[in-house]
Amino acid sequence: TRVLVLNGPNLGRLGIREPDVYGTTTLADLAELCRAEGERLGLDAEVRQTDGEAELIGWVHEAADGRLPVVLNPAAFTHYSYGLRDALAQLTAPLVEVHISNPAAREEFRHTSVVAGVATGTIAGFGVNSYVLALRAVADLLARER
Ligand code: DQA
Repeated sequence: TRVLVLNGPNLGRLGIREPDVYGTTTLADLAELCRAEGERLGLDAEVRQTDGEAELIGWVHEAADGRLPVVLNPAAFTHYSYGLRDALAQLTAPLVEVHISNPAAREEFRHTSVVAGVATGTIAGFGVNSYVLALRAVADLLARER
């Protein structure tokens, strides 16, 4: 099964960006981690990153049309993009929201997720391992559907 692992703005700068908050793993390392875990789980994890809201929404439409499960780190869009939320509401397969940090333990503006209400569930605060846990959640959900 194909799974889209989508990443929002500034996540292309993982590894150099605020390493005290986000760690030193790069996006390339993260992509490799996801592909390896996916393989273990029988999932074909396709990892993408964009700084653009329109591009991200386009990928969500692609997932909606293909009935594909999505693991999504919406990054800053989490906190204010109703356009992204409306796109995500169209998904029929599992959607797992992921965060590297724990937004609930950070600034007030990060305490709101406009995405959480349309996600199957959220995994946050486990560093890049949040993605591994999210892929396991997707595999588990898909296994239960059968
Ligand atoms: C983030 C948390 C967001 O608040 C922030 O804007 C990000 C990354 C995370 O993975 O911890 O860019 O989604």
